[in-house]
Amino acid sequence: MGRFWRSGVAAVLAAVLGAGAALADGVVNVYSSRHYKYDDQLFSEFTAETGIEVKLLQGSGPELLARMQAESANSPADVFITVDAGMLWRAEEAGLFQPIRSSVLEERIPESLRHPDGLWFGFSKRARVLIVDPAQIDPALVQRYEDLTRPELKGKVCVRSSSAIYNLSLLGSIIANDGAEAAEAWAKGVVANMGRPPEGGDIEQIRAVAVGQCAVAIANTYYYVRLLTSNDADEVAAMKKLQVVFPNQGDRGTHVNVSGAGVVAHAPNRDNAVKLLEFLASDEAQVYFAQGNNEYPVVEGVAPTAAVVALGQFKEDPINVAQLGENQPEAQKIFDRAGWK
Ligand SMILES: [Fe+2]
Repeated sequence: MGRFWRSGVAAVLAAVLGAGAALADGVVNVYSSRHYKYDDQLFSEFTAETGIEVKLLQGSGPELLARMQAESANSPADVFITVDAGMLWRAEEAGLFQPIRSSVLEERIPESLRHPDGLWFGFSKRARVLIVDPAQIDPALVQRYEDLTRPELKGKVCVRSSSAIYNLSLLGSIIANDGAEAAEAWAKGVVANMGRPPEGGDIEQIRAVAVGQCAVAIANTYYYVRLLTSNDADEVAAMKKLQVVFPNQGDRGTHVNVSGAGVVAHAPNRDNAVKLLEFLASDEAQVYFAQGNNEYPVVEGVAPTAAVVALGQFKEDPINVAQLGENQPEAQKIFDRAGWK
């Protein structure tokens, strides 16, 4: 009945105002740097439930951010979805988000996984872990991020470039926990132990461990799960020989980050944007949002994929992810001083 009435009202408005004006009530424009297999299904489900059409524009985080800045107040963007708190912070710094108060979002999403003023919200969670080859080193040697600087690991550490936002956020978490001086000492220690200059993404680091070029890599959990569940039997066999170590279980916990979204400052369809964010926090959406990329749902009680569950439970660093972004400029300076390419 509810949907009938909404359609009815839309039809009357269309007749009175012309299709364009009426359509604007039934649309939400999404700029997204996520492109995973269940995302389309997720948006279709939202449309089926609300009657609101989702218009999706995909691109990389930096591309979409630049586009929104160029479009300024004329941007059609209502919602910006991106990965990593660091990228959310860049959008926040550019003034691209507006604060949203929503009891649904505030109740369902843990406080540490959303912006304190509601500028953005985390909808799935990823852990940055160590991938270890136990045939090369005893995993007991690498139980903390700090262990990566141990002299025994000289020439054995593989990690991607310091410009990668995942590493900027990880270092941001070390700055927050241990201070800038300790963070710099850590970065220098990791550089001293690198098995090769940084090249490629997290996937390449994991493969480098599998082929013995390094003994330990830093990577987000979903990259490992992606390789572990691939259709390539050799790849799967190689992954099964490696171990996932969730670092810092005896102290602050493993560094986690989010895929997140916020309502754009000049959103022409603000209410629809809020509805979409609230939908993304629902149990059913959480399942799909996390599954598409083998991430962890942020809402308590929603299970990740079986392959992710099999990695085991872990203690996570409780720092608010918003702080990772705030520490980003300092993290970049530290990486540069440490010579982390
Ligand atoms: Fe990624």
